[in-house]
Amino acid sequence: MTHPTALLLAAGLLLAAGQASAQDPGWRKDIEPIVKAKCGACHGASAPIYEEWNLDRKNFEARNTGPRMDSYVDFMRHVVWPATGSVMRRLDDGKNAGGKPGNMYAYLGSSEEERARNLATLKAWLGEGAWNLNRWETRGSVPGITKEQLDRVKAKY
Ligand code: HEC
Repeated sequence: MTHPTALLLAAGLLLAAGQASAQDPGWRKDIEPIVKAKCGACHGASAPIYEEWNLDRKNFEARNTGPRMDSYVDFMRHVVWPATGSVMRRLDDGKNAGGKPGNMYAYLGSSEEERARNLATLKAWLGEGAWNLNRWETRGSVPGITKEQLDRVKAKY
């Protein structure tokens, strides 16, 4: 028979593993389902990649089509480069800066509770201190993103 201590130890390890993964969100498990469900209709696999979309932006916008964002690579291009920080600018709830929420924030959920929860998941996934609204380049009084800010991006696959 298995010694009770071994069972306890195994249970403890399982618990620790569970906690580690709960603290350590990943794209496949935590983020992709949100993006597919909440953004997929306009940023899904049939949407053009960012560069293609950018060439004819007005036209795509008129058809309510955004750039493709439903894969890890495409999504990250709106975090890091070339569309640096656009995920954060569009999804921000506006509370920190006391300003307006980004115009994609509403899509994060059908209730304020759901929007707040999905935003918290996204922020935790990107990493502590990684929710920065800066662009690559300086724009007006807003400085361009720094290497230190980019270093905070964890965004586990
Ligand atoms: C009903 C359609 C629709 C839904 C749903 C939607 N978007 Fe959008 N999104 C658009 C359109 C159209 C644009 C381009 C117009 C604009 O810039 O506001 C856009 C623009 C964006 C941009 C800016 C792209 C850039 O770099 O210029 C980001 C980032 C974005 N959306 C993220 C999201 C996320 C994340 C979700 C899900 C939480 C989402 N959107 C849900 C239609 C949608």
